[in-house]
Amino acid sequence: MGTKRRKATRRARKARPPSRKPRPGRSARKAVRHKPVRRKAARPQSSSPSPPPARSGRPSPVSGGPSIVVTSLRPLAVRPGGSALPPPAGSALPVSRPQVVPAGAGARPAQGLSSLRASSAAGAPLPGRPARRAAVAARRRDVCAMVLAAGLGKRMLSESSKLVHAVAGRPMVRHVVEAAKAAGMARTVVVVGNQADEVRRAVGEGDKRIGFAYQNAQLGTGHAVLSAESQLLGYEGDVLILNGDLPALRPDTLKNFIEFHRASGAPLSLLTAVVPDPKGYGRVMRTYSGDVSRIVEDSDATTEERTTREINCGIYCADATWLWDPLKRARADNTRKEIYLTDLVEILRRDGHKVAAFRHPDPEEVLGVNDRRELAAAVRALHRRKAAALMEGGVTILDPETAYIDVDVKVGQDTVIEPGVMLRGTTEIGRGVVIGTGSRIADSVVGDGTSILPYCVIAQSRIGRACRIGPFAHLRPETHLEEEVRIGNFVEIKKTRMAPGSKANHLTYLGDAEIGRKANIGAGTITCNFDGVSKLRTVIEDEVFVGSDTQLVAPVRVRRGAFIGAGSTITKDVPPYALAVSRAEQVVKEDWVKRFGPRARQKNDKGRGGRAD
Ligand code: UD1
Ligand code: CA
Repeated sequence: MGTKRRKATRRARKARPPSRKPRPGRSARKAVRHKPVRRKAARPQSSSPSPPPARSGRPSPVSGGPSIVVTSLRPLAVRPGGSALPPPAGSALPVSRPQVVPAGAGARPAQGLSSLRASSAAGAPLPGRPARRAAVAARRRDVCAMVLAAGLGKRMLSESSKLVHAVAGRPMVRHVVEAAKAAGMARTVVVVGNQADEVRRAVGEGDKRIGFAYQNAQLGTGHAVLSAESQLLGYEGDVLILNGDLPALRPDTLKNFIEFHRASGAPLSLLTAVVPDPKGYGRVMRTYSGDVSRIVEDSDATTEERTTREINCGIYCADATWLWDPLKRARADNTRKEIYLTDLVEILRRDGHKVAAFRHPDPEEVLGVNDRRELAAAVRALHRRKAAALMEGGVTILDPETAYIDVDVKVGQDTVIEPGVMLRGTTEIGRGVVIGTGSRIADSVVGDGTSILPYCVIAQSRIGRACRIGPFAHLRPETHLEEEVRIGNFVEIKKTRMAPGSKANHLTYLGDAEIGRKANIGAGTITCNFDGVSKLRTVIEDEVFVGSDTQLVAPVRVRRGAFIGAGSTITKDVPPYALAVSRAEQVVKEDWVKRFGPRARQKNDKGRGGRAD
């Protein structure tokens, strides 16, 4: 967009009318004028994008193509609760909006339907409108988030709440809460109910920006929202309401949606998507002129309504002033006998309000997870997205379709990830690492230049720089390998530290051990770390040579530079630079096989006339 055009758009936006506020009658207007309206300090106008045009055909700078759909434009004189303004403070939220709106800002003269429609559609200034009101229209309102996470999630057929199922390394609901936080929400209220403790834990309880509301019976999404009313008492900004089952939601989408909502001037905005298979979703019904008229749930829809492919995604932005009282009028007169949040659309429309719809172009991101198939689809979507982001950051992924990399994993540049690798949880992989096919690494750190050969299983371990691990190695929790350590095939290590340059190349178990620098652990070495009651430590100091097939019976210490003969069972400490061998001395009997071996015995038996077998 050229500078001139941008300026024009900005001017146009400044001149937009305060279309979201009620239009009081003469007496109401008078009252409003004397009542201070708290609001957030206005941010510089240039930082907010221009409103999306609805009918101009021009692509929107906000969302990349959504359209405002205004359902009805007859403004109300008073709010549904009866007063011209939202309820006074006493808010559970830290709402700090110290500035007073210019006198008369809460009021606005009556305007015809056509003039308002024109303004919403094109964002054009309305002739004869006072400039001070324009500033109010463009001001940035507070916005907080509400995440609905109290549902039963029956279609999941699970002992756990649907919301705590892991999706690419995080519980489902946490993705939604994180997206809200990343979109700039100062506060998020999570509505819990079914398996409430489990869901709270999954969200994380230490964050001051997150609060919880309790829905005592799962009576539907509308009821869930009403359960959070007390948490938002007196709050006058916008509420971003999100279903908790949207793990693929991106923060940028939410930011764009909020901007869209602010620009639309509607008391309620919806995010919608057009999908090839809308089964199970609420359908967005529109009038002939294209305005949203209501949402009809799949189970309540007629055959004809079910052919609509535009769905409600469970993402809403509502002006708190127009949320609670209208929603209380929703009835459970539907097949599910629930109080639907989606009924708010029809209620507001009947009250003469407008409802705006933001059509999102990427349905994959905004589809709810209700069953295991949709769970798998969400996991795949997030893994695909993660692989794409890593490749953009200089990581080679040989087959992105089989890269199972959780969202919080970090991978350094020039690392190569072979097909079928799983990187889970909080794993951090350095630069120039190779991760062989079939390996699974969870909550571990891998240093620069290390090679993990195929089929290794690694959990809660730290691996230093330039190590070589595998193939077929198993590093269990609390394994700490420093630089240039080599671990070969069929080696299992647990709660063991190995100092730089040490090796255990074949068929070994090291548990509860401390191994110094440049130690060589021979094939088949086993630390006998468990006496049937407790776990005991083995210490192998620097430059020790442990011969093959050695058992180290803990607790035991092998001092620096000692040498252990193959096949030994070491039960006592070994002094520095000593040789320790503990095997029965070898016995050699010359010609024993010829004289007493099996064939010789056979011959002797035949000679005596006995049976050959
Ligand atoms: C909902 C919408 C539907 C939309 C779909 C998008 C309603 C009535 N329908 O349907 O229009 O297309 O999402 O994915 O809203 N929840 C509670 N308490 C309850 C019931 C639900 O907190 O009593 C929570 C759930 O935990 C879930 C969210 O609300 O996170 C949505 O509930 P769900 O049952 O999945 O709604 P859908 O039938 O998918
Ligand atoms: Ca759902």
